[in-house]
Amino acid sequence: MEATAPLVVKPSNVKELAESPDLRCIPYNYVYDSSNSSATNDIDDSDSIPIVDFSLLTSHDSHQRSTAIHHLTKACQGWGFFMVVNHGIPENLMKSVIDCTHEFFNLPEEEKHKFTGKHVLDPIRYGTSFNTSTENVFFWRDFLKVFVHPHFHSPTKPQTYRGIMSEYSEKLREVTRKLLGGISESLGLEESYLEKDLELESGLQIFVGNYYPPCPQPELAMGMPPHSDQGLLTLLIHNQVGGLQVQHQGKWINVKALPNYSLLVNTGDHLEIFSNGKYKSNMHRAVVNNKVTRISVVVAHGPSLDTIVKPASPLMEKENSPSANYIPMKYKDYLEMQQSSRIYGKSCLEKVKIQRS
Ligand code: OGA
Ligand code: NI
Repeated sequence: MEATAPLVVKPSNVKELAESPDLRCIPYNYVYDSSNSSATNDIDDSDSIPIVDFSLLTSHDSHQRSTAIHHLTKACQGWGFFMVVNHGIPENLMKSVIDCTHEFFNLPEEEKHKFTGKHVLDPIRYGTSFNTSTENVFFWRDFLKVFVHPHFHSPTKPQTYRGIMSEYSEKLREVTRKLLGGISESLGLEESYLEKDLELESGLQIFVGNYYPPCPQPELAMGMPPHSDQGLLTLLIHNQVGGLQVQHQGKWINVKALPNYSLLVNTGDHLEIFSNGKYKSNMHRAVVNNKVTRISVVVAHGPSLDTIVKPASPLMEKENSPSANYIPMKYKDYLEMQQSSRIYGKSCLEKVKIQRS
């Protein structure tokens, strides 16, 4: 008998859908109209993504450090996206993070559904697509989001998850703190300026596991539509399966497997606001394939929830930025605003951007 897909399904997750026997067509409400996307569909396989050597940034040799800061400046200005090498996070820890995240998605449905959250500020939230309450078209992706700082949370299964997540998030916080110190300097501010101004000590850190199962019609579906991340920096790793694409000069660039367990860093909306538009948040998306499951782990680092984020005052005093280009907004309010809107491009950031004609 010829298998046909249901016309429309309201999914609780895409893993089950992908595993349904003889699924050859995707349901209608998973068909993504890519003409919505603001970039052309040129795909470039590029080896030119900027690289930041973390060991130079933390070097006591001031020449090496300024080389790293120079690389950071160029990466933030030209791309909003870079790879970090020599970050010192053990490979086996990164591997365990991916494996444990995969195991979580393989748990029985009832176990995962304990975390079916509704609100963006729920500390542990399992779900599908992006925000099924505001979307008509669903994305080929399940997710787990866990707040790991300033208060640490973790699902209790798989059993080893808690220890692994806790160690990984602490190490990433340290890497992020140093990167943001360098970025602060690259803006002509003191190394600790950004950290103090945005209260990173109690900054929000969110661990996101993404699960993209094989899709029978990958060219019609989308794992995650074009978007920029909220927050300052997001650090991404994946199970060496391609799918992430970043936008650069109007083209989509395929990010292939990551060499030597490097970390992929995206600059977020709040870094754009803080820098008064000098460092634009990066647009990226995730496409899917018909062969293997892709797992990514994305850790977002933001200000503390109660911080009012606005362009850094010393930057306003400089000649060529006489006025703020963004409206001040409490970080928490921004997250809630994002939750209540449909995800497309940089639509959220546009709401706080001051339009000048
Ligand atoms: C995200 C994201 C991309 C990926 O979770 O914000 O952009 O490759 N993920 O999973
Ligand atoms: Ni993202």
